[in-house]
Amino acid sequence: MLGNMSNPVKKVPIHLQSSQNRLLIKNGKVVTEDDVFDEDVYIEDGIIKQMGRNLIIPGGTRVIDARGNYLLPGGIDPHTHFDFEFMGTRSVDDFYTGTKSAIAGGTTMIIDFVFPKEGESLLDAFYEYRRKADGKVCCDYSLHVCLPTWSAHVQRDMETLCKEHGVNSFKMFMAYDFMLDDGQLYSAFEQCQKLGAIAQVHAENGPVIAKNAERLLAQGITGPEGHELSRPEELEAEAVNRACVIAKQVDCPLYVVHVMSRSAAKKVAEARDDGGRVYGETLAAALGTYGARSEHECFRHSAGHVLSPPLRPDPATPDCLMTCLALDVLQLTGSDNCTFNKSQKELGIENFTKIPNGVNGVEDRMSVVWEKGVHAGIISPSRFVAVTSTNAAKIFNLYPKKGCIAVGSDADIVVWNGNAVRTISAQTHHQAVDFNIFEGMQCHGVPEYVIVSGRVCLEEGQLRVAEGHGHFVDTPVFAPYVYEPEKMAELKPTRNGPAVPAVEPLELEDDFRL
Ligand code: URP
Ligand code: ZN
Ligand code: ZN
Ligand code: ZN
Repeated sequence: MLGNMSNPVKKVPIHLQSSQNRLLIKNGKVVTEDDVFDEDVYIEDGIIKQMGRNLIIPGGTRVIDARGNYLLPGGIDPHTHFDFEFMGTRSVDDFYTGTKSAIAGGTTMIIDFVFPKEGESLLDAFYEYRRKADGKVCCDYSLHVCLPTWSAHVQRDMETLCKEHGVNSFKMFMAYDFMLDDGQLYSAFEQCQKLGAIAQVHAENGPVIAKNAERLLAQGITGPEGHELSRPEELEAEAVNRACVIAKQVDCPLYVVHVMSRSAAKKVAEARDDGGRVYGETLAAALGTYGARSEHECFRHSAGHVLSPPLRPDPATPDCLMTCLALDVLQLTGSDNCTFNKSQKELGIENFTKIPNGVNGVEDRMSVVWEKGVHAGIISPSRFVAVTSTNAAKIFNLYPKKGCIAVGSDADIVVWNGNAVRTISAQTHHQAVDFNIFEGMQCHGVPEYVIVSGRVCLEEGQLRVAEGHGHFVDTPVFAPYVYEPEKMAELKPTRNGPAVPAVEPLELEDDFRL
């Protein structure tokens, strides 16, 4: 808990913050997925009530001057694993430290994954996650549900979750002991399509990985370097391709989680070119660092970089994946935050297959994507908003309540200073974990204020979160963005005043084209 000791969180009771129910943010540059414009934003009771200039607002309203800064829709991290029992241990960031850290970095909503234990039904697992998260979350959250087995019972529970519990996404694994085979994937995708849900897939060829791992261990390769060697990127690309082909058979929209390599991204691009409803998410880790780190001589460092699919040794991978985000080959960034301390990573000290898989990122995702994307000149501020917030809101049917700054939307807003610099470190982060894969990285892009449901949770470097202040948010099925894209125009919030031309498209290096 290094971060907590050096950076104590002041918790202000909710009742002392009630005067904050009215807030005016003045002089900021509002960024949307396709526009940047100067408008003031007036918030009441957690909702954006007015936008424009010279707004008429009640006396006594708190005013924040955002001059020189951007106003971004709060980040939505579509991929976290808080309080997750996995590989014989439990991730150390729970729904309190996880969402607190999210807010510290400018993320105002997360979507976590329900993972049923052996023999547990999807429904019981869902209730258990609600119990773990409600009362702890400092910001709003939704839940995806994993399908570690396939059966008629699972199929029934999927329907109940969609119809009664606000779930619209299910994750299937093509690797690990709990992977589904191709026939089971087919059936699960078919059920997703029928329900109006989104199929998510962890795409790696599990049986081939198992054989590779056996061979490497027999050769005496037991250290963390065996992790990537056993799961080379062609096994990721092959599985992405197979998942796209299977999803196509039953016309199911497919969301490929954690795309970690150029060759996997290429398969996503091909499926999209073919007209497939395929969406690709990459990770802050994949954009901010690369796989050579897993050969660090110290076990903590190399094991600290172990996640699946692995970080790739090719140092061009981060820029290639960022360019895929720029070109709309990939649509979103997540963190896949799944944190384990030194003693937990040491479960695999003698055998790389036993290193708990997972890294941090929920706190640093926004800064890392800004630094490697906007500051590096590969994506515009508008595309940054799309890949950190808006596209997640659209795909999971949270838009326009979330993912945009517009009248009627939730007041989840970040006052973002694109020029300020911070250095990432486990010494100062707010996460419970004792390690940070971005240690020492200097990032332009720092949140000056983070407003969560109208409440100022970060200002002047002080984090004031409220445990349990967040709510579970339903993700209704048949997201128009996925199932009825022609309806999106109706959903798009409008604003008064002349349109400002969208940010110029950026020239992209030919090298990064797929
Ligand atoms: O290594 C990873 N990615 N850990 C979390 C579980 C998963 O597959 O997303
Ligand atoms: Zn996964
Ligand atoms: Zn070390
Ligand atoms: Zn994950």
